[in-house]
Amino acid sequence: MSWVREEYKFSWLERFFSSMLRCGKIPQHLAIIMDGNRRYAKQNKVEKIQGHSQGFESLANTLQWCRQLGIHTVTVYAFSIENFKRDKEEVENILQLFREKIQMLISEEEKLKEHGIRVKVIGNLKLLPEDIQQLISTANKVTIDNNKFTLNVAFSYTSREEITSAMRESVKMVERGEISQQDIDVQLLDNLMYTSGSPPVDLLLRTSGEVRLSDFMLWQASSSITYFTQVLWPDFKFYHLLLAVFYYQRNMYLFGKLRKKECVE
Ligand code: FPP
Repeated sequence: MSWVREEYKFSWLERFFSSMLRCGKIPQHLAIIMDGNRRYAKQNKVEKIQGHSQGFESLANTLQWCRQLGIHTVTVYAFSIENFKRDKEEVENILQLFREKIQMLISEEEKLKEHGIRVKVIGNLKLLPEDIQQLISTANKVTIDNNKFTLNVAFSYTSREEITSAMRESVKMVERGEISQQDIDVQLLDNLMYTSGSPPVDLLLRTSGEVRLSDFMLWQASSSITYFTQVLWPDFKFYHLLLAVFYYQRNMYLFGKLRKKECVE
């Protein structure tokens, strides 16, 4: 199945709720912790890798729904540096799935261009096998000029590693005499993050009932609304996304009201 899905045909109820939401503020940047693939596999009595495979289908559908709702940037947590500690067979299977999906992405260059979809794989890519690093570099290159929608795939990623790497790079810039120590500020570090070029995260969503951030987007989500839902990632449907966006709008509205009140008093 492709990375780019056919336009999703809304039911009348979905069209109604989508139109209502589109009257409000739509998050520009949605970050997703796609959790619950293995529990889904267990519940459905299939191999773990089928849970992850189904997770990819959910991802491709969600990207289409986001595009139709007007969300322009999505960052997903596909593989954490901590995930390397899982059993060897599962790690190898996930790497193989990723390899296949990235190959498919490269073969879909024209389709991605037609829809203006840019895909950026972010993380400490040096920890990945050489052939995957090569594929990622090609994938990043073939979509670099697309500018309607950005997908950041965090793979071999943790926030603390990302922040450390940005700090290390800024120190190197000082050592090379390119900047002075006083030039190290939020803006500079922002530009050195793997997500540089993407707006801050507005809405961070985690599936499967877990309520932790698990070292994901700690820098980028400093002012985001966080939404936790019980659904397992492979079971994620359009109405789950609508509920998340509704939660975002309600909280932005309440936050705005609170700020206004504080200013008046
Ligand atoms: C978390 O669920 C999910 C992962 C560690 C892997 C996510 C991978 C995909 C969605 C598919 C591959 C994506 C791309 C971009 C090719 P879990 O395994 O922790 O499940 P659990 O919480 O039930 O144990």
